[in-house]
Amino acid sequence: MASPRPAPRLVTTRSELADALTASRRAGERVGFVPTMGALHAGHASLMDRARAEVGAGPVVVSVFVNPLQFGPGEDLDRYPRTLDADLEVCGEQGVDLVLAPAVDEVYPAWPPAVTVDPGPLGSVLDGASRPGHFAGVLTVVAKLFGLVRPDVAVFGQKDYQQLVLIRRMSADLCLGVDVVGAETVREPDGLALSSRNRYLDAEQRQAALALSRALRAAAEASSYGVAAALDSARAELRAAPGVDLDYLEITLPDLSPVPDEPAPGTEARALVAGRVGSTRLIDNVPLTLSSSPGLA
Ligand code: PAF
Repeated sequence: MASPRPAPRLVTTRSELADALTASRRAGERVGFVPTMGALHAGHASLMDRARAEVGAGPVVVSVFVNPLQFGPGEDLDRYPRTLDADLEVCGEQGVDLVLAPAVDEVYPAWPPAVTVDPGPLGSVLDGASRPGHFAGVLTVVAKLFGLVRPDVAVFGQKDYQQLVLIRRMSADLCLGVDVVGAETVREPDGLALSSRNRYLDAEQRQAALALSRALRAAAEASSYGVAAALDSARAELRAAPGVDLDYLEITLPDLSPVPDEPAPGTEARALVAGRVGSTRLIDNVPLTLSSSPGLA
């Protein structure tokens, strides 16, 4: 019988983290990293599995840190769920070695930080248009966490697709040397993408929220007829579902640049949607493949 894995070690300071990783670094093990804001669910568990698959016997580190820099005024920083005990259990079940759960002043000894990461033009479209400063906050904390953990590979969910694209760009453009892996979105059987914010939804709102994944499925099904047809199908789903206040519905290339007017057959693309259900902002996206005939319905 395999012996049970030890519970993950919880560290809260930079020096504890450095000590905990010293032996692995000396042994030349690959370090895997899953940054999170806690309130962990099966989607996060799948990121931890992916990190384990990437590093084998090397350490998997999970950070649990609700990053104040990525929340705007009036957003849900104060009510964001903080569930460290339950999070440690999830990490234990996934065989995580180390959980970093720092206080705000451990990450930001000076507040606000004087130096931040500018996400460039991609930081002010889609979610960035509705959440000014959000991606500067995300990239700044991820750069700091990369500096603290110094991982070889870091795993992020494709559900936060714009975040994933920007973090990949940051790692490449700033030569951070971290291999950024995007793991597939985990969904409920009825299609709802798992999100820590789903716990804000009551039963009626949860039902309304399903329109987002239905719209994306409709877009994917119509995508062989072109972008316009895919968007029309998705909009029809959203119109038929009351309770979603649509923020955006867009189809882009996988790097979030615009789809050309006449995409080559088989062009890979991404459909992305965001909307508010009650006071909860939800996002989702799917990959799709376009035909060469935009607008052909
Ligand atoms: O996706 C998240 O949970 C957060 O944006 C991240 C990447 C942990 C940065 O705070």
